[in-house]
Amino acid sequence: MKIGIFDSGKGGLSIFDEVKKVLPEAEYKYIADSKNCPYGEKSDEELMEIVRRNVDELSDWGARVIVIACNTATTRCIERLREEYPGLKFVGTEPAIKLAVKTGAKKILVIATPGTIESERMESLLEENKKAGQEFILLSCPGLADAIENDDGVDAKLAELLKDAPEVDCVVLGCTHYSLIREKIASYFPEAAIVDGDKGVAKRVKELVENLWKNE
Ligand code: DGL
Repeated sequence: MKIGIFDSGKGGLSIFDEVKKVLPEAEYKYIADSKNCPYGEKSDEELMEIVRRNVDELSDWGARVIVIACNTATTRCIERLREEYPGLKFVGTEPAIKLAVKTGAKKILVIATPGTIESERMESLLEENKKAGQEFILLSCPGLADAIENDDGVDAKLAELLKDAPEVDCVVLGCTHYSLIREKIASYFPEAAIVDGDKGVAKRVKELVENLWKNE
């Protein structure tokens, strides 16, 4: 089984690692599309064009399953990709709102790219999962994924974005790049649980691939 994975750079590598752990026997190709980073600050049409190129490359290589290891590309493009490529199976990465709700936290901060924060999917994720008595605060972080990708000015960017952040008991890392600086982010929220979607994505890929194998 050939599985393709892509992100706007190294953000998706933590998802790639989790997927490999649960499906070591599959064959993988990872596209680190850093020349087009940041995805989170592109228009829908620009992003669709970029993402189609990645999907075409992975499909030409022979991938049957494509993992979008990027919250921005998932929240903004996955529905259209499923329509445009009916022969491929897509697994996306979404901000781990469900997981945050499960922690029982009362005040939850979601940090993500502008593209993810402003997406309709972000709104529906909250509507679908939010429980009474829970407050969600959304914080758009322009420039942060780019700083992480290029390892340039991360500390200054974080300080600028988080210096006035509210006190919360859970933080959702809604961009795969942010998982790479989890400890730095956690240092702003010493009491909070920090959650991301990496393991959830790997679990869904495993279920999907095992189903495909069963039906072969
Ligand atoms: N790592 C991606 C995400 O999860 C995209 C970051 C970017 O390129 O803006 O949203």
